[in-house]
Amino acid sequence: FSSFLTDNFNRQHDYLRISVTERCNLRCLYCMPEEGVPLSPPAHLLTSPEIHYLASLFVSQGVTKIRLTGGEPTVRRDILPLMHSIGSLRRHGLRELCLTTNGISLYRKLDSMVEAGLTGVNLSLDTLDPFQFQIMTRRKGLDAVMKSIDRILEMNRLGAGIKLKINCVVMRGINEREILPFVEMGRDKEVEVRFIEYMPFDGNKWSKGKMLSYGEMLDIIREKYPGLRKIQDHKNDTSKTYQVPGFPGRVGFITSMTHNFCGTCNRLRITSDGNLKVCLFGNSEVSLRDLLRKDNSGNPLDEEAFEALKEVEMNRQQGLAGPNGPMSWAERENELLEVIG
Ligand code: GTP
Ligand code: 5AD
Ligand code: SF4
Repeated sequence: FSSFLTDNFNRQHDYLRISVTERCNLRCLYCMPEEGVPLSPPAHLLTSPEIHYLASLFVSQGVTKIRLTGGEPTVRRDILPLMHSIGSLRRHGLRELCLTTNGISLYRKLDSMVEAGLTGVNLSLDTLDPFQFQIMTRRKGLDAVMKSIDRILEMNRLGAGIKLKINCVVMRGINEREILPFVEMGRDKEVEVRFIEYMPFDGNKWSKGKMLSYGEMLDIIREKYPGLRKIQDHKNDTSKTYQVPGFPGRVGFITSMTHNFCGTCNRLRITSDGNLKVCLFGNSEVSLRDLLRKDNSGNPLDEEAFEALKEVEMNRQQGLAGPNGPMSWAERENELLEVIG
């Protein structure tokens, strides 16, 4: 494993998340305003050859898992050829190629993606009710998302082996009554539904009151399913996993707000405009795009670039946990507000 992917906390970064677009075809309440987010000028965005080059560089240094994210990755025009080219890195050590998507147009592209080497889909879905879907995403489309889920399960019955997780952000007063229906999806479907604590991002109108904590979500589920039991998590998972006895599906919790998982974080991120970020909340970034384009050769990153990368790695923080264990709510809120401005 390359030392350049090992940080000052000795965490090995073998998981790379690449954002392939800022655009999205939904407008989820907790993510984007109705008018969308300001977009970077196209010339600032990484081209597919640049993304492929960076992916292959990181794989050569020990990255074994790549996740494509957005915005909504399926709205990138050349997403299929891009996935095929990244998928070819399996020959060089890539083991998992995953997608985080809202599922709106996934069913149309899924077969080709699986052919390209797609191994996992994290699908964002916060409600199973069409009317509520329209409120939460400001768009229609629940049918299309369900079609994508069904297509994944159908392909899995034929042996595709796509790991499916559903991400559900829970907001008090908006969708907490959907928790049980989502748990019950696991009664006959082999899916993992992960409930996510609502997190603050710049401009998403977060408030503590709207956040439902891990503990509260557990209570809601346990009231109906007292047998809910903890099962083993995988190393580096963001979630804590549970199962209702007798259900093939699983239930997970992403507890970014109340019990962070920074200590085992193994992720690197590349933003769609080519910045390498080591933490979702961090502001230490280095522009890989500028390093790549520096001499117009459109290719190899030189020694100087590796030095810059190493520096970012070595300056990594142990996230928001604080050096002395978990922070109090008040401390955490202050930290977060500072980070998001
Ligand atoms: P897998 O572990 O590969 O299934 O993916 P994931 O959970 O890392 O990624 P996904 O894109 O499904 O994101 C799920 C949730 O985790 C989202 O709410 C993210 O914002 C959150 N998340 C992902 N990475 C981090 C991180 O490094 N720190 C924090 N605090 N949250 C993260
Ligand atoms: N809090 C928690 N999760 C969020 N996501 C987007 N915004 C937030 C937020 N404010 C989730 C999406 C998607 C994943 C990549 O991040 O639902 O599943
Ligand atoms: Fe944001 Fe994802 Fe919703 Fe699009 S689908 S608005 S990127 S949370």
